[in-house]
Amino acid sequence: MPTFSIIVAVSADLGIGKDNSLLCHIPGDLKRFKELTTGHTVIMGKRTWDSLPNKPLPNRRNIVITDIAGELLEGAEMAYSIEDACRMADQTKENFIIGGASIYRQFMPLADRLYLTRVHKVFEADAYFPEIQFNEWEAESKEHHAENAAETGFEFTYEIYNRKKRD
Ligand SMILES: NC(=O)c1ccc[n+]([C@@H]2O[C@H](COP(=O)([O-])OP(=O)(O)OC[C@H]3O[C@@H](n4cnc5c(N)ncnc54)[C@H](OP(=O)(O)O)[C@@H]3O)[C@@H](O)[C@H]2O)c1
Repeated sequence: MPTFSIIVAVSADLGIGKDNSLLCHIPGDLKRFKELTTGHTVIMGKRTWDSLPNKPLPNRRNIVITDIAGELLEGAEMAYSIEDACRMADQTKENFIIGGASIYRQFMPLADRLYLTRVHKVFEADAYFPEIQFNEWEAESKEHHAENAAETGFEFTYEIYNRKKRD
């Protein structure tokens, strides 16, 4: 069975995006995203693919999910359903689910690990992460960052969770 890890930056009210863009840019978080996902398969929805300034994400297998049969995107492998993406996923290494809202929602029940960057501020948003049932998850680590709060206006925390053994 492939393993799926969700990686996401969420605001204090689980906002993740507005107008098909991210809510804020944290250079350290982008670097961490790159370090964690490089060498792995990343799986995303078509709107998240569209939002990437440089695509495909280099040194990663990019799988893009779309409903548009026959759609081909240079540098990406196409999946036409969640089941397709699961079949195409790497069987030996962590697969990273990188958004957006609709893809997080559909992969949430399948995910084994959550990498959350929790930004301790509310932003105006039109895309949200689904409610997290924390009783299903065990915290592995939490790392608080306040270093640039004077300039950015927010602190943030890297949190990693593993799914508790399923019944
Ligand atoms: N904060 C973060 O960490 C983070 C990360 C990633 C994205 N985001 C944000 O999330 C927002 C985008 O989220 P979104 O929900 O609008 O878009 P999305 O999930 O990226 O993509 C949605 C598209 O994916 C395809 N799709 C979804 N489910 C499918 C299925 N079961 N079968 C076939 N195709 C399927 C459809 O593409 P077609 O229309 O082509 O059929 C759909 O329109 C943006 O604001 C983005 O910046 C935030």
